[in-house]
Amino acid sequence: MSEQDLTRPCVRGLRPYVPGKPIEEVQREFGLDDIVKLASNENPLGPSPRAVDAMRKAAEGVRLYPDNDCRELRAALSEHLGIAGDQILIGHGSDELIHNLGLAFLNPGDEVMMCEGPFSQYEFTAKLMDAAPVYVPLKDFRYDVEAMAGRLGERTKLVFIGNPNNPTGTIVTRDELARFMREVPDHTIVVLDEAYHEYVESPEYPDSLALVREGRNVVVLRTFSKVYALAGLRIGYGATTPALAGAMERVREPFNVSTLAQVAAAASLRDPEQVARSRTLNRESLSYLYEQFARLGLDYTPSHANFVWVEVGRDCRQVFQELLRRGVIVRTGDVFGAPTHLRVTTGLPEQNQRLIAALEEVLKGVPS
Ligand SMILES: Cc1ncc(COP(=O)(O)O)c(C=O)c1O
Repeated sequence: MSEQDLTRPCVRGLRPYVPGKPIEEVQREFGLDDIVKLASNENPLGPSPRAVDAMRKAAEGVRLYPDNDCRELRAALSEHLGIAGDQILIGHGSDELIHNLGLAFLNPGDEVMMCEGPFSQYEFTAKLMDAAPVYVPLKDFRYDVEAMAGRLGERTKLVFIGNPNNPTGTIVTRDELARFMREVPDHTIVVLDEAYHEYVESPEYPDSLALVREGRNVVVLRTFSKVYALAGLRIGYGATTPALAGAMERVREPFNVSTLAQVAAAASLRDPEQVARSRTLNRESLSYLYEQFARLGLDYTPSHANFVWVEVGRDCRQVFQELLRRGVIVRTGDVFGAPTHLRVTTGLPEQNQRLIAALEEVLKGVPS
């Protein structure tokens, strides 16, 4: 029997995840030492020293399986969020929680609503479960909540809203979300993916946990990968109703979160200064990048996260390749269906300057 025949039909059409290009690969390919990676929305300031210290102390203990219930971290998150411990989800990355949402809630044929050009894992979990993704176009790179409400139906099981949205960096405001939630039927679960929550400074940003406290069918997802700079450990979390948390608990793998990830995450929550420093740097980086994009005549979408969606007016793959040669890694828009856009993560001041200098040079050479 061929591999095609052996594989579940819904898996045959899946494509493996394409990550941001790793630094080592670019070093090898181009023989460069000094690489700037602004491709995966990582935090250039790195993790809290408290997190690193906690991992050092816990390292000897990795002989034993981790705490299956993440008791210490759960208690810390419960206090941090003001949400009961049994309503908190913890996964190896919020990616795992997105995957588990599919396992717990999707039947074949269910509809999963997301924006056009979504963060890949929303589409992945839908297709993996033989559910049907329903794509609603963005309007000016923002979620169009009216159009989304119009597409809710009998079969809509999950709705994914990236807030801020990856890759455009835009938010759904409090009023927009409230209007949308009024239209959401009982059989639909709204997933508010807030991976970049800590970077948002807008007073219009909704209080998603209030919806959880009201008992709405909402799952809020957050992560330690971004502002807390623990991407390499793989740890994310979420909050939802006790009932939905119970279903998610049934599909969870045993010992899904490593000991080092648990202690580092708990220690990170005890270091608000690390978050404050990261927010300040991000604010400064965004304003520098806006200023420079404007100088270069490039349209960009003002961002509420640690990355900017910028229109380069040229084949983004070509611009990407030319930036690589100059040791700068960014993300191309084509993977999100936007062939002349780039998504660039904010970096340290010198990294942002390297990006701009390289981009300025590249734009002169690549035809528009
Ligand atoms: C919108 C969004 N959701 C979820 C994730 C996954 O984060 P994690 O590292 O917690 O799996 C990312 C990572 O890039 C993201 O951009």
